[in-house]
Formats: sequence, structure tokens, C-alpha cells
Amino acid sequence: MLISSKIYNGINGEVEIPGDKSISHRSIIIPSISNGVSEVSNILKSEDVLHTMSAFKQMGVKIEEVKDKIIIYGQGLNSLKEPSKEIYLGNSGTSARLLIGLLSSQNFISNLTGDISLSSRPMGRIMDPLNLMGAKIDSVDNKLPIRIFGQKLNPISYTVPVPSAQVKSGLILAALNTEGISKFIEKDITRDHTEIMLESFGANIDIKEENKYKHISIIGKKELTAKNINVPSDLSSSAFFIVACLINKNSKLTLKNININPSRNGILRALKKMKAKIDIKNKRFLNNEIVADLNIEYSKLEGVDLDKEMAKSMIDEYPILSIAASFAETPSIFRGLTELKIKESNRLELIYQNLIRCGVKSEVKDDDLYIYPNNEYSITDSNIITKFDHRIAMAFSVMGTRLNENLKILESECINTSFPNFFKSFNSVGGKLIE
Ligand code: S3P
Repeated sequence: MLISSKIYNGINGEVEIPGDKSISHRSIIIPSISNGVSEVSNILKSEDVLHTMSAFKQMGVKIEEVKDKIIIYGQGLNSLKEPSKEIYLGNSGTSARLLIGLLSSQNFISNLTGDISLSSRPMGRIMDPLNLMGAKIDSVDNKLPIRIFGQKLNPISYTVPVPSAQVKSGLILAALNTEGISKFIEKDITRDHTEIMLESFGANIDIKEENKYKHISIIGKKELTAKNINVPSDLSSSAFFIVACLINKNSKLTLKNININPSRNGILRALKKMKAKIDIKNKRFLNNEIVADLNIEYSKLEGVDLDKEMAKSMIDEYPILSIAASFAETPSIFRGLTELKIKESNRLELIYQNLIRCGVKSEVKDDDLYIYPNNEYSITDSNIITKFDHRIAMAFSVMGTRLNENLKILESECINTSFPNFFKSFNSVGGKLIE
């Protein structure tokens, strides 16, 4: 459990944000199926990413950890070996969906399992299109645990029906080892780290925009060439610090080397609409990903009405955006949060329930979240229920900085799935978290 207390002197200074979680997963998966040696620096060593790393070690990939780097010795698209036991993926949806795709087109049997939360999340969204490619996957109710009978697949042309980078990426990974041209059409643009990294590893991947849809074509069986990767820092992890700074008087914060990939920087656009003072400086490219330095200052925030389109570029940020909205001058509405209900927890429900515990008036109508801010809040229940969801735990740790009574963040060890040093980093810039 973490206890989060009110702070009086603001959030100040500079904090080092760890490597991006999405890019870190891909920085293990893609080098592991490439030819040659890839050195990866600034990789996030959180539980989720370590599960991906141990999966590839179980499949015979040599991965060395040397100081702050990892070195991956890839031996090609078909070099993975049948794991001798099940692959356990903990809480990590990204590992699960990307690996289901990748392993469907390998030539061995594998078994994937996860924790209670991951075992209740829908895998049909990735299994259905893979089945169309001829994959053989066994599961009860399209959920983990699942058994994959890896085999030769057929290319398909498929419009992805859900806004999910995990599904898109799983399909692309399956297509890499499938003879012929596979086409995936995205109606809803989602984070494109897989496509960016694969292009730089020499994949035969072509991306076009037609009628506002993104068309991704992959000619399979082309071997990839190893490359070094420097993982930029994670915007989703930064968001907890950004909002803590924005809602606390006397705050000024600098965050450097943050990935601001346009397919997932909705949080910056949303906060700017709320009149947040965020200066984005020194934009540059790092491994074809855009990064920048951010200077943030305490701001008088206004409420905002966000449509469902915004959700696609900031789905992970609604827990912390809800905290920002709780301290704005006017109400906010966040629309179309359907996907938020099937994350590590039902985040829509948990945000609502925990806001009510903190005394914030809030409503959920259909899949829209309404937040009516106030000047002072009186807590009705100081126990924040996280259901082991890291982003709920970190968002309400930030909430505690502005409340008169301490908040108890239950099951806060879940923060280790994405941000092992959160507690220390937060306190280093003025936060008051007690373990
Ligand atoms: C991710 C995609 C998103 C996001 C998750 C990471 C990825 O999930 O919520 O935290 O790395 O591809 P969906 O694909 O389910 O939207």
C-alpha cells in the first residue's frame, strides 16, 4: 500500500522518465527475430517488459544484460525454439497479443498464461483474424490460457474492427513469417511503433493512406537486419508528473527525451485545450520516433469536451486526465471510452468509483465520463481500489497531492508493471508518498 499526502511546495525540478513501454516490448521482439546483434539502451525494465524478455529467453534467444543495455543476438524469422514449458506473461496485454500473432506462424506449439487480470481480457480480437489466416489456437472463451499450434499461415486482407495497436501489431508479426502479401487496414489510427521499427529493420512493409484509412502491406518471409535501438522516454509515464505539476501551485518541471509520436500524444493536445502551460522544445528524431523536452508549469486549467476520436490517441491517459479535470475551473466530458473498460481493469468504472471516494462529483453515461470539479473535496472513503491496475494507482497517487486527508492506494505494488521507480521519482520532485 502507498499513502499519498497533500503537498504544499509544488512539484519542481527535473525527473528522468523511464523508457517507453510499448517501444521496449517491440525492442525485444523485433531484434529477437532479426539477423545479427542489437544493442538496446534505455529499455524499460518493468515487470511487463521483463515478461516479454523472459519469453524470448525461453524460446532460445540469447539476451545479455550489460549495465544499462541489453544485447540481443537474433538469428532470423524462424530461429525461435519450442519453449519447454508454458510462457507466463503476468499482467501484460501487449506481450500477449503480440506473441499470439508472432507464435501463430512459427513451427512449434506454445502455451501462454497470465495473471487473473490478463486471463480475463479478450483475446478473440487477435485470434479471429489469425484464424482467417489459418492459425490453430485453442482456448476457452477466447481468453488465456491458450495453446498455439504454430504453422504456415495464408496472407489475408483484413480491416481491423477495433482501435487496437496490439491487434494490428500481432497481425503484422504473423504476416512477417507468412509467404505472400498480407494487408491490414486501420480505420482508427493507433500507435505505430511496430511499423516504424520494422521499416528500420528492413522489413518489406508498405504504408499508404487511402480514404482516411491506413493501409499496411507486408510481403512476408523477408529476413530482418539487426539494429541498435535507443528507447525514448515514455509519455504515458510522464503524464503522471505533468498533471501533478499542473494542479499544484508553485510547480515547474522539466522532462527530457519524451516520445511524442503523433499517434499517441493526445494527452498533450487534451491538456493544451485545458490551457495547460506545457512548452514542447527541442523536437528531434531518435530511431525514427519523434522525441522532445517538455517544460511544464502550474496552470489554471479549464474543463474540456473530448470526442471519441481523441480516445484513440490517448487511451492509457484517461485515469490521470480525470485527475487534471477534477482541479479544472469548469466541468469536463470524455466521450466514447468503450475500450477503457477492457484494459488492465475496467478503468472507466474504477476512475468513477475512486473519484466518488475522493468527493469528486462524477457520472458515467453510456461510455462517456462526466467530471464536475469543485474548490474543496471531502473524502468519503480514503481507500483507493486499484484492482492491481498500475495506471489507476499512479493517477490517484497524484490526486492525493491536493486532498486534505491522506489517500491509501491499495495493491500499489502493481505500479511495478510499468514504472518500478515511480515512488522514488515522485518524491524526488516534491511528492509525498509513503510506503
Ligand atoms: C499498446 C496498445 C494499447 C495500449 C497499451 C499498449 C501497445 O492497447 O493501451 O497500453 O503497446 O501496442 P490496445 O491495443 O488494446 O489499444
